[in-house]
Amino acid sequence: MSEKISPSKRQSIHGQWSSRLAFILAVSGSAVGLGNIWKFPYITGVNGGGAFVLVYLLCILAIGFPIMISEIMLGRRGRRNPITSMELLGREETGSGVWKFVGVIGLVAGFLILSFYSVIAGWTLNYFILASKGTFSGLLPQDVNQVFDNLNQSFSTQLIFHTIFMAVTILIIAKGIRQGLERVVKILMPALFLILMMLLFYVISEGNISEGFAFMFKPDFTKIDGSSVLAAMGHAFFTLSLGMGCVVAYGAYLPKQESIFKTTFAIIFCDTLIALVAGLVVFSIVFDNNLDPSQIAGAGLIFKTLPLAFGQMPSGVFFGSIFFILLGFAALTSAISLLEPSVAWMIERKNLSRQLSAIIMGSIIWALGLLTVLSGNELSNFTFWKGTLFDNFDHLATNILLPTSGFLFTVFAGWFMSKKSSSDELDINRKFQYKIWRFLARYVAPIAVLIIFLNAIGIY
Ligand code: TRP
Repeated sequence: MSEKISPSKRQSIHGQWSSRLAFILAVSGSAVGLGNIWKFPYITGVNGGGAFVLVYLLCILAIGFPIMISEIMLGRRGRRNPITSMELLGREETGSGVWKFVGVIGLVAGFLILSFYSVIAGWTLNYFILASKGTFSGLLPQDVNQVFDNLNQSFSTQLIFHTIFMAVTILIIAKGIRQGLERVVKILMPALFLILMMLLFYVISEGNISEGFAFMFKPDFTKIDGSSVLAAMGHAFFTLSLGMGCVVAYGAYLPKQESIFKTTFAIIFCDTLIALVAGLVVFSIVFDNNLDPSQIAGAGLIFKTLPLAFGQMPSGVFFGSIFFILLGFAALTSAISLLEPSVAWMIERKNLSRQLSAIIMGSIIWALGLLTVLSGNELSNFTFWKGTLFDNFDHLATNILLPTSGFLFTVFAGWFMSKKSSSDELDINRKFQYKIWRFLARYVAPIAVLIIFLNAIGIY
């Protein structure tokens, strides 16, 4: 597959974002999701707090930052779905198309992630309904826990909401870039931010913010080991949507004149801020109710703490409802980005329509999601390696596949792509930023990923 058009003139057949802001919101919409509000507090709880948060922040800066720049750059240069872009660029830069397998690893990770992501997003929809009916008003901690356990044990309820969520995701993808995605993120992202700020003010006045703050920011290094460092790195990939090719796919729709450095800064700032605020809110509520984070830490954490606060605060029915619906929407803007790369691949390579491609890919992922639904009930005793099937999907995709493909993306961008090509994409007028990126992308990020990997499997 060789092309006569020069790389900088290539166009995507799916169209472009209408502005830089649209791109920032779309990638932020992808980045900010269940990872920030559901997952980050819970893995922070599991891994003991402050020291974990510190390692996570380091991973964002040293690994996440250069890899995000690399991925956007690869996407914009290739202007195709992640697999084809890597094949195309691999041919151009190294003479070999095997680089497409980096995109394939990402695609597999995306399938696994979206399959369980949609189930968790379904939980938030279910909680929206419960919250709006006033179910949580005045409940005690153990009652709130019971609500969650009941949901987790119910196959049919989870099935219904997982199906609704996947259907909406498919619908938006079917509508395309500007008509579907851009419209949705422009309203939902600012709204989510506002709600989170309201919750922050609530815990400042009512919660136990000082203990929440101490838990999140006072590092106790005895609490972390190789596997928690791996979890911190895995989460840095997960929360920034890296490694899977989402960002490559979105980069393919970025107009040529936009600066990749500036947009990346804005996206990472937004994602990190929201995760830290969400963590603070959750742990302030945990401590205010005398709960022990290590006791309730786990996938149910926010579903067991936030409803408690909503059940007690004035206008809690209102706040609770909008919070869970917005969390569902934040999940939606991320889910879309998980589906888009494989749909783009199908449209480009198999010549199918966008609608049909979205339905086919979405249905395969929906079916895979049934295994996560079953992990809470029928198959809850079927455990191996890291736990239930859901735990294993999450671990395999997040901690192994994402870092592997993210590593290869950045090694390609830093070592195999010519300096001329990368500086052409990254704006030649920004010499200083370019040098920093290249250093991080060539040395710091790949070496850090390798060390953390080897350490986790006990070699280093
Ligand atoms: N980043 C999203 C979150 O934090 C989830 C997500 C979207 C994702 N696209 C991804 C994770 C690609 C890994 C890879 O909720």
